[in-house]
Amino acid sequence: MKAIEIRNKYLDFFKRHGHVVIPSAPLIPENDSSVLFTTAGMQPLVPYLLGEKHPAGKRLCDYQKCLRTNDIDEVGDNRHLTYFEMLGNWSLGDYFKEESIQMSFDFLTKELGIPVEKLSVTCFAGDEDCPRDNITAECWKKAGIPEERIYFYGKDDNWWIAGEEGPCGPDTEMFYDTGKPACGPDCQPSCDCGKYVEIWNNVFMEYFKDKNGYSKLKQRNVDTGLGLERMTMLLEGKETPFDTELFAPVMEKLQQLQKVDLVESRRIVAEHLRASMMVIADGGRPSNIDRGYILRRLIRRMIRHLNKLQIDLNTALPDLIEINVNNLKEMYPELAEKQDTIKQVIIEEKDKFAKTLVRGEKEFEKEIKKLQGTETKKIPSDIVFKLYDTYGFPPEETKDLASEYGYEIDLNEFQELFKKHQEKSRQGAEHKFKGGLADQNEKTIAYHTATHLLHQALRNVLGDHVRQCGSNITEERLRFDFTHPQKMTKEEIQKVEDMVNEQIKRDLKVTCEEMSYEDAKKSGAIGLFTDKYGDRVKVYTIGDFSKEICGGPHVTHTGDMGTFKITKEESSSSGVRRIKAVLIK
Ligand code: ALA
Repeated sequence: MKAIEIRNKYLDFFKRHGHVVIPSAPLIPENDSSVLFTTAGMQPLVPYLLGEKHPAGKRLCDYQKCLRTNDIDEVGDNRHLTYFEMLGNWSLGDYFKEESIQMSFDFLTKELGIPVEKLSVTCFAGDEDCPRDNITAECWKKAGIPEERIYFYGKDDNWWIAGEEGPCGPDTEMFYDTGKPACGPDCQPSCDCGKYVEIWNNVFMEYFKDKNGYSKLKQRNVDTGLGLERMTMLLEGKETPFDTELFAPVMEKLQQLQKVDLVESRRIVAEHLRASMMVIADGGRPSNIDRGYILRRLIRRMIRHLNKLQIDLNTALPDLIEINVNNLKEMYPELAEKQDTIKQVIIEEKDKFAKTLVRGEKEFEKEIKKLQGTETKKIPSDIVFKLYDTYGFPPEETKDLASEYGYEIDLNEFQELFKKHQEKSRQGAEHKFKGGLADQNEKTIAYHTATHLLHQALRNVLGDHVRQCGSNITEERLRFDFTHPQKMTKEEIQKVEDMVNEQIKRDLKVTCEEMSYEDAKKSGAIGLFTDKYGDRVKVYTIGDFSKEICGGPHVTHTGDMGTFKITKEESSSSGVRRIKAVLIK
């Protein structure tokens, strides 16, 4: 079964079971500069899992484009991917364990035709935070899974949370038995040997975790995720996702073009090419920080492996991109629409990388000169790391060059340094995730309302060309990016500040209405992420001052928000200004 058929069957099935299909949010969360990439279907839905009312109702389903780069260095083996598609269905305070499990069971066995004998499931074993999930096990038995294929594991396996804090809960995972021999008498779904492949995860999200521990959410939710590439691999009877129709055309082309036969490199090129194309189609561009840096790494790693395969970049890259567009455009029409941009961005990055390699070699030669006066024949790892981190010069290149000069490097030591660095960035990314989504308290809610007031005030003072293009809220401040061609004057800043404070003083009522997207636009509501909305949207109105499409939450009255103060106005990027502001109580 082709991936798109699985996707369509999934969405049809859940539609028949009362779910509304919502569009995939972009890979790069718009209007939320605090999150690097969308990593799970639930991520754009956090406010609704926490209790906000979703305009499309309590039963939702979608396909969500996701990017996870924690394991980027594992790509090349037979299973890891950075970009993947997650099929998901949600109950926002509606059905819970029994119905969710019955639907999953029916979808797998009846719609996809997977024999029951192939399925095993796992449930949460219980601990001091949450009891053993016997109910889930009972539901599985009732659906048709025999007791001996129901396993219980602890938090490491059967608990799901995005990052450190946020909505979470025990989960139940479904595994497919590939029929490979067991690796030993203790072989179980939790085992990594490849006999069992996880295919679907249903999270019973009724808890919230913060630094003080666990508490119950206002409502009991279900959040599920089914990995489309894996399911395609299993249903097509393939050993790896790279053998499926999703990757086969690019993999075959690489095989034709290569002068050296390296399967890992072919997989890395195929995977990173698809991931980069998806990121670029959703607006990502290579740079040296955050998202841009991840995209840069994806493209450069792909290029390095094309070099390893000894494939001529200039002729191959445009062809490979076209092959992917043709193969994937039915699933992702945006790839065809953005084909020219994708080509341009990747080719420009290739040229920049070529320059980096030249510069890196120069730096390398400087370092070698220093070493040549000494006894050592090993290039110190901090230098290898500096070449990588500061000049973007890959350690594999350093190694090759080093051997030409009769030197060696210790790639393991480099890896240690790299891991330390990665751990730091991971913590940074999790912190960002947390800051963007999970922290919803009185302070962040007031800041959220303040961004609406600020947005409207900027439009009143500077003109209607002002459009929000990003925001980030912490408990201490708000940051707001908007289009405006020049620096704001002192007077303009003062006017905006006064206008926001006036609205706060007027103690305006904040109301929320649901309507169709078309009606929202007609009503003059300003809003951002047009293509992210489903048919029905929420419009928040603040007295007679502001009307904006938004998911909320907001204060009910502006009166106790505090005094609004702009602390900084600066350039963010070309044509985009950035304001930082605080609310002082
Ligand atoms: N949010 C859950 C996951 O990503 C479904 O596995």
